[in-house]
Amino acid sequence: MESGMRLSGGQRALIRESWQRVSGSPVQHGLVLFTRLFDLDPDLLPLFQYNCKQFASPQECLSAPEFLDHIRKVMLVIDAAVSHLENLSCLEEYLCNLGKKHQAVGVKVESFSTVGESLLYMLEKCLGAAFSPEVQEAWSKLYNAVVKAMQRGWETLPEGD
Ligand code: HEM
Repeated sequence: MESGMRLSGGQRALIRESWQRVSGSPVQHGLVLFTRLFDLDPDLLPLFQYNCKQFASPQECLSAPEFLDHIRKVMLVIDAAVSHLENLSCLEEYLCNLGKKHQAVGVKVESFSTVGESLLYMLEKCLGAAFSPEVQEAWSKLYNAVVKAMQRGWETLPEGD
């Protein structure tokens, strides 16, 4: 990933430390993140459809087993990023493909800013006073690097075009 995105040793330590407090219960924290996301942008709800069935409310979505699996998937991607802080570039291809998959299901790249806001909200709720401005900055940097890599999925044209 770009050198401008490089995290300092101190920032990496803050991320690892704070993630330890979240990663033990990924679904519980992921629910805080996605509850906030639907509060900020209810229009994202219809993008989650399983067996062509639309959810009638965020509450219905947030309790569906398929959606809880999506939460686990999101938390696993973040976990992978936290495990590869020294070498985020090895996730680049995976994240680009993940971006393509999200484009295919109708997600707009701009929505990832709202996801970022919701991620910071969840971290603040989980960490309380430990959510310092330094922790916030380190996480923003990491999240921006992940989104930048996913964003390439929107920029790449499908093969054959
Ligand atoms: C705007 C927010 C998002 C929306 C609307 C969204 C929507 C979706 C949908 C509809 C699917 C396919 C169905 C499913 O697997 O549940 C999916 C798959 C997935 N999403 Fe998301 N997603 C969002 C954010 C994220 C984020 C932030 C991450 C991780 C950083 C993520 C990681 C994944 C993964 C790993 C899959 C499975 C891809 C595969 O099948 O290989 N999603 N997402």
